[in-house]
Amino acid sequence: MNSNFFSHARTALKIGLLSLGIKQNDKILVPSYICEAVIQPIRDLKLQLEFYDLDDSFQPIWSELKDKIAKDHFSSLLMNHYFGIPQDIHKFTKIAKDNNLILVEDNSHGFGGKFEDKFLGSYGDVGISSPRKILNLSSGGILYLNSKLTKPNNLPVKKALFFENYLRGFLSNNPSFKIFFDNLRNKRNFSDPRKYLERKYSDMATDKYSELRILKYLGNDYISEVQRKQYLRWIRCREILKKEGFQPAIDSISNTSSPWLFPLKIDNFDEKNRLIKFAKKKNLILTTWPILPVEALEHSGNALNKWKNNLFIHLNYKIY
Ligand SMILES: Cc1ncc(COP(=O)(O)O)c(C=O)c1O
Repeated sequence: MNSNFFSHARTALKIGLLSLGIKQNDKILVPSYICEAVIQPIRDLKLQLEFYDLDDSFQPIWSELKDKIAKDHFSSLLMNHYFGIPQDIHKFTKIAKDNNLILVEDNSHGFGGKFEDKFLGSYGDVGISSPRKILNLSSGGILYLNSKLTKPNNLPVKKALFFENYLRGFLSNNPSFKIFFDNLRNKRNFSDPRKYLERKYSDMATDKYSELRILKYLGNDYISEVQRKQYLRWIRCREILKKEGFQPAIDSISNTSSPWLFPLKIDNFDEKNRLIKFAKKKNLILTTWPILPVEALEHSGNALNKWKNNLFIHLNYKIY
């Protein structure tokens, strides 16, 4: 399995699909609870999008997924390890194999996490990870690929933004400053699934500095330190929030996971307000799922309900 570096995981996804020979109008099946960062490369490649819905624990509604696959012809199936928590990899792998589908594994949220002694991201025919998120870097997406890479040779290099990297590192250790800056920018919108716009990035290669930083983590024990830190933050977050009567959307995870987000289930408006206030008081960085793509909203109400009923604590910020 080869690892290849790009500025973002979304570019890694695009290049991975191209390398596996996916063609315009091929059909790809993705979860409806998804973000623009995944849909954009699929639109760029002019693939046909189809969606499957998820249950409350963010796993596919398996009977519906199997039905869809039986009734139509798809070239590929995307499995997303939400928040860095592994999906049922054996089940996905079997479905993909039985139906001759390319399995696309999205581990953008869980850099450093393992399942049965293998890194998440390395199980699919094509796998992606976004170490920039957990490592607080401005650049860094990985593509795992078994076959030959078809890399466009004209990708510009995203310049290393040392100040941005420094600022991200600083904010990660001082979340109260992050809350202050976000308030100034009026960044968070907790009620409109079309308002929290993500920045758009063109396809770029990663710079040498970011690549070396990521390689340093991949190459030795640092990666287990990163994974351990993320896992312990999850445990601490669960402890703090449960004590206040908030409801984790997923209660326990494997101690080899490297979660980027801690998901919470929100039952009503008052609960949401109570959580927003509590997070501010405790310097926890609270966020919604990002903007939901129009196509996903048109597909069913499943993604919108999840958007409304779940909020997340960022685990790449220190938890006190
Ligand atoms: C589920 C998922 N996949 C892929 C990506 C893309 O990662 P990147 O921002 O590195 O392109 C994101 C980004 O947030 C994501 O949430």
